[in-house]
Amino acid sequence: MMDWGLKNRFSRIFRSDGRTVMLAVDHGYFLGPTTGLEDAARTIKPLLSYADALMPTRGVLRTSVDPASETPIVLRVSGGNSILSELSNEGITVSMEDAVRLNVAAVALSIYVGSPHEKQTLLNLTKLVDEGTRYGIPVLAVTAVGKDMVRDVRYLALCCRIAAELGAHCVKTYYCDGFEKLVKTCPVPLVMAGGKKLPEYEALELTYNAIKRGAAGVDMGRNIFQSDDPVAMIQAVRAVVHENAKPKEAYDLYNSLKRQSKRGKKSSGKSVTASKEEINKH
Ligand code: R5P
Repeated sequence: MMDWGLKNRFSRIFRSDGRTVMLAVDHGYFLGPTTGLEDAARTIKPLLSYADALMPTRGVLRTSVDPASETPIVLRVSGGNSILSELSNEGITVSMEDAVRLNVAAVALSIYVGSPHEKQTLLNLTKLVDEGTRYGIPVLAVTAVGKDMVRDVRYLALCCRIAAELGAHCVKTYYCDGFEKLVKTCPVPLVMAGGKKLPEYEALELTYNAIKRGAAGVDMGRNIFQSDDPVAMIQAVRAVVHENAKPKEAYDLYNSLKRQSKRGKKSSGKSVTASKEEINKH
């Protein structure tokens, strides 16, 4: 059972259809200046109104996101590692007091199941859930980050279930064969991480497959901000998540919006998903 404040914050992230398009821009906390995020403010600005939620670090939030924006923030609060070190060696990097001051809708941290610092990251999660419950702030657990992870259903189901058992209010994980099993065995909403950059059609297909198999949306980064046209891409992802568009319909929408923006025309439907009719027109 969620308390009112927690429920209220949660419903700011997940729209009335129970789904979300979260834009992940937190990569720099261990990757430094990731391609597409070198100038985070410039990347985020045109995408912000199309995102149901934004997932930045505290530093990017304070320096690069318009405080007047109404897009809810899911704040990355774990770190202390880098791509040059053991990734699983993370701690909690933001106090709940500062998260409240930043008016966030949720906090997010990574857990590293099967890694050298598994216990530490799982205890980070439990601590954050305790604090989040005290302040009415939901916790998103991020699973299976790391280049050497075998992301099969057996492993991901283990990670997601552990996260939910320890109290995470939602879980972010990768797509895999048998994704529906992950959904079935995880009692809280699952959002799909996009992973490394794919051709746009493949990324939309991945999104479609995850939604069809029960994902409550995406928390996607590189496949949006590293796209040839990030604004067109986030709208195409929205069409899949919120309008159940098929990959081909969404890809046609992407290409059409890309052509429009190339011609310097204003793309229509800011802040709203293109309707099924609009998608079918293209
Ligand atoms: C990784 O630690 C970060 O949480 C990213 O936000 C996450 O991997 C999602 O971004 P992407 O879609 O680029 O994988």
